[in-house]
Amino acid sequence: MGIQDLLPRPVVVAPMAGGPTTVQLVVAGARAGALGFLAAAYQGPAAMRADIAAVRAGTHGPFGVNLFVPGEPSDDQAALARYLDSLGVLPGSWDDHEFGGKVEALIADPVPAVSFTFGCPPRDVVAALHAAGSVVVMTVTSPDEAQVAVAAGADALCAQGIEAGAHRGTFVNVDQPGQDYGLLALVDALTSRRDVPVIAAGGIMTARGVRAVLGLGAVAAQCGTAFLRCPESGAHPLYKAALADPAYQATALTRAFSGRPARGLVNEFMLAHADAPAAFPEINNATRALRAAAAAAGDASRMSLWAGQGWRQATGRPAAEVVESLCR
Ligand SMILES: Cc1cc2nc3c(=O)[nH]c(=O)nc-3n(C[C@H](O)[C@H](O)[C@H](O)COP(=O)(O)O)c2cc1C
Repeated sequence: MGIQDLLPRPVVVAPMAGGPTTVQLVVAGARAGALGFLAAAYQGPAAMRADIAAVRAGTHGPFGVNLFVPGEPSDDQAALARYLDSLGVLPGSWDDHEFGGKVEALIADPVPAVSFTFGCPPRDVVAALHAAGSVVVMTVTSPDEAQVAVAAGADALCAQGIEAGAHRGTFVNVDQPGQDYGLLALVDALTSRRDVPVIAAGGIMTARGVRAVLGLGAVAAQCGTAFLRCPESGAHPLYKAALADPAYQATALTRAFSGRPARGLVNEFMLAHADAPAAFPEINNATRALRAAAAAAGDASRMSLWAGQGWRQATGRPAAEVVESLCR
């Protein structure tokens, strides 16, 4: 079984942790012939298992589960403390989001596909998932990362261009000048390898975009932002409204909210904290209450409004119609 066998149509509904991904979005994607991924990054094993059961109850179609590969605690605790102090928030701790427990659960009760981002999973994890029968997808942002992922046993690569919404899937959380690959250059470089199927992610909003990456040799387009405003998306109503609000002029990469580079609509918080240090998920954990309070107060200027560069083309239509429009 390869990734192509899980793709009735060449569209992947991207995992979107933090709210947007819901069981309903994954089920709607599967029913429309797209491969949806549950976003289990911030969940514990029990919640992940419950979502898997709910997807199975809603569709017999293939689906996947996505995890973040844990990094290391910040090596600059002083910079982290200064930043959190400037925000007036309590310190946030490092955690691995129970990665090991979720991997164990996925081995005990396998799903058709497991994808990873933020790094290359350990070889024994890849081998165990293979033995369980899952297709393993690894997110990469550069040809160098692709080399490592293939050597580690990836069955498919998700090539994520700089255009993509939310967190960059870079293996390390440091600035890497010259590694900011656009999707076209990245997909072309990776499909030239010919040894592993490539899923293209970043800024793909229309059937034209899908055809473009298929033309470059990708097997599918992985779209996130295109589904954010769907009724099945769990994105906060203020976030959905911001995506449709012409007052927002641009997206940019920021560490301000989470401590890891992520692309979102430029708002006041992002502009005020362009100097945020690298510390994930410490900063993400520390700003959670602040972001929740902003949402409760109806203040989108302090919420993370993750969006890819194509955000203006996102619509509020049901997910099945978005899949249809991407395949037209
Ligand atoms: C709100 C949001 C949350 C995301 N969360 C995840 C995630 O949990 N895991 C992951 O691998 N990718 C995540 N992504 C990135 C997507 O997998 C994909 O690379 C990206 O959406 C493609 O760019 P696009 O948004 O322009 O379509 C997220 C994207 C968005 C917009």
